[in-house]
Amino acid sequence: MTESFDAVDVIIAKRDGRRLSEAQIDWVVDAYSRGQVAEEQMSALAMAIVLNGMERAEIARWTDAMIRSGKRMDWGQLGRVTVDKHSTGGVGDKITLPLAPLVASFGLAVPQLSGRGLGHTGGTLDKLEAIKGWRADLDQVAMEAQLRGVGAVICAAGADLAPADKKLYALRDVTGTVESIPLIASSIMSKKIAEGADHLVLDVKCGSGAFMKDQDRAEELARVMVELGADAGMGVSALVTDMSAPLGRTVGNALEVREAIEVLAGGGPADVVGLTLALAREMLDAGGLAQADPAAALAGGRAMDTWRAMVAAQGGDPDAALPTARHSEELIAPVTGRLTGLDAMAFGVAAWRLGAGRARREDAIQLGAGIELLAHLGDRVVAGQPLARLWTDTPDRFERARQALAGGAIGIAPEDADSSEPASWPAAEGAPRGLVLARIGPV
Ligand code: URA
Repeated sequence: MTESFDAVDVIIAKRDGRRLSEAQIDWVVDAYSRGQVAEEQMSALAMAIVLNGMERAEIARWTDAMIRSGKRMDWGQLGRVTVDKHSTGGVGDKITLPLAPLVASFGLAVPQLSGRGLGHTGGTLDKLEAIKGWRADLDQVAMEAQLRGVGAVICAAGADLAPADKKLYALRDVTGTVESIPLIASSIMSKKIAEGADHLVLDVKCGSGAFMKDQDRAEELARVMVELGADAGMGVSALVTDMSAPLGRTVGNALEVREAIEVLAGGGPADVVGLTLALAREMLDAGGLAQADPAAALAGGRAMDTWRAMVAAQGGDPDAALPTARHSEELIAPVTGRLTGLDAMAFGVAAWRLGAGRARREDAIQLGAGIELLAHLGDRVVAGQPLARLWTDTPDRFERARQALAGGAIGIAPEDADSSEPASWPAAEGAPRGLVLARIGPV
């Protein structure tokens, strides 16, 4: 029988900067899951953790307690190496869509349990639901059948996957307790370890559109997660990647699916292609296929074939037209100069306000809403030129979206309007900005 504690004593221990014992952690996570620790008590404990942190061993125990609150998945019957990927969330981050079928096209199994968007970051399931007929809810039998037949599945996590984290994450979301390395690392890794893949590749975002605003903190988060995975017998590596500007040219569900399909067809923006390939190489390497050439699989159509099969297996029509929002407006360059900044957070908030995201879990989203970028970082832009197109079904949202993009959200370094330089620099079209900032290897 597990030892029992007084919730107030556990809160006070962490408030005063003491280390929680294994028994205290096991008890508080379990009692909270069963409703015996009140929301306000867990909220106080989460804030004490935000302020005073947790040691490595405490984080590992907390993660394990959250895994034990639900079921662990097991892919042992598949007879294939399983490789999973997780991004800590960013603006315009549609990478999972081309990545999962790309890696699966080499014979690895990619079971990808994803979530819905909340606030300024989008959710992979919301994006895929822009495809007519596509279903997010699959049971374990259907997932396994799809992994055998197609090799990749992207679907919703079942209610029994780390349920303590689901409850705690919803509480953290409304109590200002999301931004904490121990809480983020344990939240993500409890779900990823419970998902049971052999290997995991993490994309830890860093910059204005990410939880971690600076590189040191992002690397620290990556390191903690890699170690938690290693403790659980999982091979984990992490790329720390830039999220100071939106990824690619689109932010918003159907708009991002369209861009992902461009990548699968061998085109697409250089930064999306570059990051997809960097993560694919990590996953293929982890799965024992270091010699595989993911760029050739994109160019040759093999990844696209797997995408079409993956979408169709979940009831989706890969040929159906994607939804388009009913109204659009352009955002115009106020001055001539070099485009030096597109603030990821501001674009995420603007897309959200246009209807692409939700404020509460139960809100409906507009599948066609969002933002298309019409100029790239590094471009020379001319006053009056459109920089972006805003899309929504409800035009009264334009004003609030524009407010999010006012101020310093768009950086243009002024220069002479009569300059003889071309309006768009060739390098800006094709060159990925330095997206991968660091790699934290398996331990
Ligand atoms: N994503 C999660 O699943 N948990 C966090 O705490 C933050 C991002």
